Amino acid sequence: MQTTTPVSELNMAESLRMLSRPVHLTAQGNSNESLQGYAPALLPEQLGDREFCSDLGIRYPYLGGSMAKGISSAAMAEELGKAGMLGFFGAAGLPLAEVEAAVDRLAGSDFPCGFNLIHSPHEPDLELALAELYIRKGVRLVEASAFLALTLPLVRYRVHGIHRQADGAIVVPNRIIAKVSREELAEKFFSPPPDKFLRQLVDEGSITREQAELAALIPMAQEVTAEADSGGHTDNRPAMALYPTIQSVAVRMQAKYGYAMKLRSGLAGGIATPAAAAAAFAMGAAYIMTGSVNQACIESGTSDEVRAMLAETRQADVTMAPAADMFEMGVTVQVLKRGSMFPMRAAKLYEIYRSCAGIDEIPVAEREKIEKTFFQASCADIWQETRSYFQTRDPRQVERAERDPKHRMALVFRWYLGQAAHWAKNGRAGRKIDYQVWCGPAMGAFNEWAADSFLAIPANRRVATVARNILFGAALLTRINILRYQGINLPADALHIKPLDDTQIKEYLA
Ligand SMILES: Cc1cc2nc3c(=O)[nH]c(=O)nc-3n(C[C@H](O)[C@H](O)[C@H](O)COP(=O)(O)O)c2cc1C
Repeated sequence: MQTTTPVSELNMAESLRMLSRPVHLTAQGNSNESLQGYAPALLPEQLGDREFCSDLGIRYPYLGGSMAKGISSAAMAEELGKAGMLGFFGAAGLPLAEVEAAVDRLAGSDFPCGFNLIHSPHEPDLELALAELYIRKGVRLVEASAFLALTLPLVRYRVHGIHRQADGAIVVPNRIIAKVSREELAEKFFSPPPDKFLRQLVDEGSITREQAELAALIPMAQEVTAEADSGGHTDNRPAMALYPTIQSVAVRMQAKYGYAMKLRSGLAGGIATPAAAAAAFAMGAAYIMTGSVNQACIESGTSDEVRAMLAETRQADVTMAPAADMFEMGVTVQVLKRGSMFPMRAAKLYEIYRSCAGIDEIPVAEREKIEKTFFQASCADIWQETRSYFQTRDPRQVERAERDPKHRMALVFRWYLGQAAHWAKNGRAGRKIDYQVWCGPAMGAFNEWAADSFLAIPANRRVATVARNILFGAALLTRINILRYQGINLPADALHIKPLDDTQIKEYLA
């Protein structure tokens, strides 16, 4: 039985924070006859989709998104997992052996976690190897991202081990949570695996004919995360416009295919405050996903230098800059601009790439300038280093670069773009001005919200504490809104949602 706290005995702000107790507002303080407002008990675990949480084996509808190069580290997945949430290990851009080590480290955990399966259009072998590693190691959950279309390795991962149990229900051991920012892609993920891939898998002996028949009855992904304007690769879609569209695709595809399982959508991008989380849940998100704010936490695999920069970041301190992986195609990523010249320098390199046919075509003064200030090395030396790197990793790149001076220039420029992310992650002294730090506007929003609190200090930013605050505050704000909709005019201190430490949150939830 829930107990009611008469508001007259405590102040309004305190009553609202006691999330496990309903709030009754009465004119004289305690008489039911003059009830003026009511807010039900609302715990953080009640936000979002309860079935989603139980399917995943988590308590809270809160996921830490993958962050490349192990920035979303195994330690981060552990902390989120122990707190009843779920973290994805950031496998992109890491050598396979490092991903395998993370899989092994997390394998024995008694909480769920997941791994990123990123589409690599330039390195299909890598994508294949990653999918195979996950199958071999029995990884049950992946975050599929950057896909422009479904691929064979992804389909193979999804349908591996599919079977019908005795009661006739289809069991799909491998779960994909797909991250997209476009409705066409949401449609693809909410559809069954394409026929042509299923046939190919049967032909190569990866699955049986019966398994292919079962696979035609399930979606590639039961959950799709709508990724709005965020750190890193982003289409800069506004969450308010994107989420309802993706959710509507879920409803449409459910009706079209009549799946036994319920399609769901979550929201990522811009969420780092209680208000943003409350808005996501109010729009119907089954779960929320964060990224930028987690990079600023002590468990992230970046450097203290970057964490300090992120603590200073304000809303408008981010901008788009050319991406290392798809540089030639003009693809961009969202990065930090405060305290780094990287966005400007990367944009300059792209401009040169567009206008020159090769390194020898760059006007001498310009080339000397980028060698001296950006690269701190000659283009010739960088090419030698790049050449030997690709000689083992992908010799086709070397062959092509030796034929095509423009490609050689692209590889040299991509060296700078790639190193800039390493320098940031490793906190390389003397290279701070070139740090490439993926970050979205959510970071500034968090800093503004956390200003003057213990969470303003980088060393206090623990990923689970931040997450608990976002969820706690979202539940609190939802209760505040329920009262507002009843015409209750709340005092200013009741409207103020401030960061709380773990003990305070625990006490309020008791
Ligand atoms: C540093 C950083 C690296 C990221 N790397 C990846 C990645 O490798 N794969 C991926 O799917 N998403 C990546 N993301 C996106 C996050 O998983 C998440 O979807 C996004 O950050 C959420 O938006 P937010 O930054 O506004 O919180 C990255 C984000 C950041 C900030």
